[in-house]
Amino acid sequence: MSEFIIFDHVNFAYSLPAGAKIPALNDISFTINKGEYVSVIGANGSGKTTAAKLMNGLIHPDSGRVLVNGIDTRIHASSRDIFRQVGLIFQNPHDQIVASQVEEDTAFGPENLALPRAEISARVEEGLRLSGATHLRQRQTYLLSAGETQRIALAGVLALHPECLIFDETTAMLDPRSRREILSLIIDLHNKGYTIVHITHDLDETLLAERILVFQEGQLVMDDLPRSVYQDRSRLQALGLDIPHLLQFARDLQPYFANLQSFYRTPQVFLTDLAGSGSEQKNSLPAATRSFTHDGVIMFQHVSHMYLQGTPLAQPALQDVSFTIFQGVATGLVGHTGSGKSTVLQHMNGLLRPQQGRVAVTGFDLTQPTLDVRALRRQVGLVFQNPEAQFFERYVGDEIAYAARTLGYQGKLRALVQHAMQLVGLDFEQFVDRPLQSLSGGQKRRVALASYLVVQPHILLLDEPFVGLDPQAHQQLSHFVQQLKSDGITIILSTHSMHDLLEITDQVLVLRERHLVFNGGIAQLFNALKLKEWDLEIPLEVMIANAMRQNGIPVPYDCLRWKTMLTWLHDYEEGGHVIL
Ligand SMILES: Nc1ncnc2c1ncn2[C@@H]1O[C@H](COP(=O)(O)OP(=O)(O)OP(=O)(O)O)[C@@H](O)[C@H]1O
Ligand SMILES: [Mg+2]
Repeated sequence: MSEFIIFDHVNFAYSLPAGAKIPALNDISFTINKGEYVSVIGANGSGKTTAAKLMNGLIHPDSGRVLVNGIDTRIHASSRDIFRQVGLIFQNPHDQIVASQVEEDTAFGPENLALPRAEISARVEEGLRLSGATHLRQRQTYLLSAGETQRIALAGVLALHPECLIFDETTAMLDPRSRREILSLIIDLHNKGYTIVHITHDLDETLLAERILVFQEGQLVMDDLPRSVYQDRSRLQALGLDIPHLLQFARDLQPYFANLQSFYRTPQVFLTDLAGSGSEQKNSLPAATRSFTHDGVIMFQHVSHMYLQGTPLAQPALQDVSFTIFQGVATGLVGHTGSGKSTVLQHMNGLLRPQQGRVAVTGFDLTQPTLDVRALRRQVGLVFQNPEAQFFERYVGDEIAYAARTLGYQGKLRALVQHAMQLVGLDFEQFVDRPLQSLSGGQKRRVALASYLVVQPHILLLDEPFVGLDPQAHQQLSHFVQQLKSDGITIILSTHSMHDLLEITDQVLVLRERHLVFNGGIAQLFNALKLKEWDLEIPLEVMIANAMRQNGIPVPYDCLRWKTMLTWLHDYEEGGHVIL
């Protein structure tokens, strides 16, 4: 195999405007071969995105060399060539969109290569087709949902006909179907001979890679096969990482099922091992629906919403949506990209007012023009999907204090900021004076969270809060949200991750094409047998429970959270049953 990308003792530091240096990569050496499929993992700020930018010549090493196809990326004359050969799909797809119309955006790269018209059209066609975005070609780029934008960014890169594709958390914001599609697209492109570098915080996604590079604080600390990298869980945890859920579950179950391995690349093989040759048990729905005895704190009645109403670009976003959310109950909001989840959340803190229907939140009537928005927002914190979009200040400390200040908090602001930063795992001294612009993707996300936790709201709206967080921060935040929930805070969590949904929420709302199609308990959702139709993913936990039932083990239908399931299994075994 021939070498395609070579890092040879690479050092890189960012310079801040004030002259300070932020070291990002420290003496990194590795090689990626032509046609290889490599995953890159590491904690927030460990240098992954920096390495990606060095690979396609966006930035150059301070010392050491980066070679692409044998050419030093510092050689100016070849920079365009390198940029074309190594396509980078950024962490935030909006950074990559240049034109206001999709088709024009995809054509931008090939046009810059001064290709003939026919060739440009053919490449636009192909780029859109490969990224599953043909149907969006006439749309306005600034009106696309996160997942749609991601596809357009990919289409633009593919139209350049690169040899190597770097995906920097490309799947993070996508709904399960788009994510599956992009992942199989990645594998497809790999099979076609593309060299693939896939940066991700979703460790389960790395199991199919041929090799994994692990970064820690600017250093390359592991470079090995997935099977070897994931052997030592405690070492990974010390790096702010963990092992993939699939392997966690397999290892947790090994004491009960002797035939399980400790490494799997796909859930299918694992589930087959688990189900053994047992006879299939008939599915039955769980007994009673959970009834909530709490008070309603958020009420939607026949709410509809249209963006750019009255213009030719009008886009309906919600249609006749009604539901009640109860005090202290954690509610999940799920649905396909563009199904209206963010629109629902923005109605809850007064960012959007109902055009039709009624919204009431903890005694505030949002249809009233005289609504005291400040008073409402003291009660209801909304953490946006895209943290950069909500930054008002230049520096971390000011940004976190901003919301508290505008909402009228005075006095112990510094202590509040310090506490909020501690909650999200940002070191106060190290980060309080850092410009926001200089943060990594995950660090920005932590600032965004801190800026809402600082006001200590009674209702916390979280729009995809885990996107961009490394595995450890993800887990800490999940525990923290569960803690808030047990303190009586009402949580509304919009997420594509069924695992997080199971961990945190009790009630679920499913939105589909602007309509509310499901409102009920979480156990009911996973037994509703409509998950496929709603494009929702069946979580691994549920598949495992089903596989056990196939094996004749009567796992209760509401036993969906992993800890509950393990406790149940343990008690079941204690009861004298011999399992396999
Ligand atoms: N434009 C910038 N200016 C200054 N410092 C930066 C800049 N971008 C990143 N850094 C810093 O460089 C280091 C490496 O950042 P990088 O973005 O490569 O991390 P990452 O591994 O991609 O993190 P994440 O998982 O959060 O995306 C971090 O300490 C970060 O704060
Ligand atoms: Mg990054």
